[in-house]
Amino acid sequence: MSLLTRIPAAAALVAAAFSIAAPAAAQTEVKLAYALAVNSHYGAGAAAWAETAEKLSNGKLKFKQFPSSALGGERETVESVQLGTLEAVIVSSGTLSNFVPEVGVTDIPFLFRDLAHARAVLDGKVGQDLLAKFPARGLIALAWGEQGFRHLTNSKHPVQKPDDMKGLKIRTMENPVHITAFKTLGAAPTPMAWPEVIGALQQGTIDGQENPMSVIVSAKLAQVQKHLTLTGHVYSPAALMVSPKLWNSLDAEGKKALTEGAKAGVVAMRRFVDEVERKGVEDVKAAGMQVVVLDDKSKSAFQQALGPAYKQYESRYTKALIDSIANAK
Ligand code: PAF
Repeated sequence: MSLLTRIPAAAALVAAAFSIAAPAAAQTEVKLAYALAVNSHYGAGAAAWAETAEKLSNGKLKFKQFPSSALGGERETVESVQLGTLEAVIVSSGTLSNFVPEVGVTDIPFLFRDLAHARAVLDGKVGQDLLAKFPARGLIALAWGEQGFRHLTNSKHPVQKPDDMKGLKIRTMENPVHITAFKTLGAAPTPMAWPEVIGALQQGTIDGQENPMSVIVSAKLAQVQKHLTLTGHVYSPAALMVSPKLWNSLDAEGKKALTEGAKAGVVAMRRFVDEVERKGVEDVKAAGMQVVVLDDKSKSAFQQALGPAYKQYESRYTKALIDSIANAK
């Protein structure tokens, strides 16, 4: 072999050695799980979170989404985030008070007047103080997203007044505040993880469930439930969370990318909720649901009926905190 042919071959070897020694910037995979389909408010939030965080981290963060409870129910996914076997979740407050009990205050029925009130409280001091409680429980909560106000569906009869709740077997989230409320109204609350709910409704082992329009529409509940009552009984926040294992592995830039991404996720979720609140009821009517709209008098009858439950909430969360949320502008 001549000297002329040997020099380029040696140069190629040196170049190859360098490309092995200096790999492309390391990429961190962020597995993100949530309970609902891609075409839900969770899917919208996840897409915006992923897109923004990937862009701001210059591709160092790479999201992989697991929608539709693919990695288990909400409680299981939160446990996986604590363990660090899953990097990120979007979950309702349903299961959260089992991890961070203080969050339960947001689940109190008829606490928030409307979406603007709830958003202002969660974006303000109360919401941010709650987020700050998560690290002590092995979780990093970056922002409050939402689902909207929860309404009641069932397969038995139209619910127009508290008495109509008597004896109805209603699936609730695994959430002590909700369970207390439904017991107080005379229903038979049946706490159940979301992945079992559609099957249980189909088989008739439960009569109904309660969820916001965002879920009623995206999970196609009109296919398994005849009656919808627009109770708006509870506002349903959702947390965008990551594992401490992921968080602690990131530099300041990576943390900023995740946090800004979560904020973009919240904006997308709220936009989806606004849209579905505007046209969801017409959609489910078109799909065959019978809808009861409660006037102010009927709503306050539900509030009155919940009197004994409010006593319990006050002793658990303090009247001062509940009043400060209810009276927030
Ligand atoms: O009802 C629930 O468990 C929740 O609202 C859901 C549907 C899993 C979304 O977080």
